[in-house]
Amino acid sequence: MSFSSIQQNVQARIDQKLTQFIEQQTQTANELVAAMKYSAVGGGKRMRPLLLSIVGEMLGADQDDLDVASMAIECIHAYSLIHDDLPAMDDDALRRGKPTNHIQYGEATAILAGDALQTLAFEIVLNHPLSAPNDAKRIDLARVIAKASGVNGMCAGQSIDLIATGNDISLEQLTQLHQLKTGALLSACVSLGSILAPRITDEETELLQRYAKKVGLAFQVQDDILDVISDSETLGKPQGSDFELNKNTFVSHLGLEGSQSFLQKLHHEALQAISSLPYDTEQLKAFTDYLVSRKY
Ligand code: IPE
Ligand code: IPE
Ligand code: MG
Ligand code: MG
Ligand code: MG
Repeated sequence: MSFSSIQQNVQARIDQKLTQFIEQQTQTANELVAAMKYSAVGGGKRMRPLLLSIVGEMLGADQDDLDVASMAIECIHAYSLIHDDLPAMDDDALRRGKPTNHIQYGEATAILAGDALQTLAFEIVLNHPLSAPNDAKRIDLARVIAKASGVNGMCAGQSIDLIATGNDISLEQLTQLHQLKTGALLSACVSLGSILAPRITDEETELLQRYAKKVGLAFQVQDDILDVISDSETLGKPQGSDFELNKNTFVSHLGLEGSQSFLQKLHHEALQAISSLPYDTEQLKAFTDYLVSRKY
């Protein structure tokens, strides 16, 4: 199957399964549920589910089980975007070509939709049916998601991002910021796909973790580059937001060309990490190429 068909399939499956799960959680189609669906369904590239599925399927994991982990990750991701766009954070009005959640539903409901999506992620991994061999792995899945999202992951990165804004930070600190705010959740996808696999050796886990760290960072480097070179219509979010907010980005530190060559270096290192894996890595390579060449 071609890479773009795989991506379309993942998008359609996750949309359909997430809608169903969210609707099952409540008897009333209230404003909160509408706000949750607005940001969790029908938009977004689904890069994290794509990575999770590709890694998991490469390792022989069950696709429905992988989708459960992906749904949870996308709930965390959607919540992080809703809160990232709030006036107290990046104060952005456009996301995925639509008004941001707080513009559409108001700040209070947007905050609650983020909160509820975060806890929904844990309801999914703790309650959604899984195949018998993976049923005992729920706690491991929840542990990985919690660590990647919270005070040792995405929230920590977002906090450093806010504190660092307007201040000079070192390249090392910037790398840590990006690894936490974006890399952690992408790395978690590799871990979740590995956990759901029937078997994996320590050496394979180590190589995949090395890969995950490179692509996690590369994803945010490309996000910083696109903020400068793209346009709002293509991005579906406001171009130039980082510059306007005086954010620390790879472009502000290394310049555009410096960031582009750093991205190429990360791309190369990511591919190198998976080159000796004893699996068919064709789709994982295609994912890696797509990640660094994506236009939005
Ligand atoms: C945007 O993530 C936020 C970052 C971590 C850079 P994506 O670019 O994956 O957003 P969607 O889900 O495709 O809209
Ligand atoms: C990543 O950073 C945000 C999250 C961890 C949610 P950005 O602030 O750069 O993300 P965009 O550019 O708004 O999507
Ligand atoms: Mg931000
Ligand atoms: Mg932002
Ligand atoms: Mg950005």
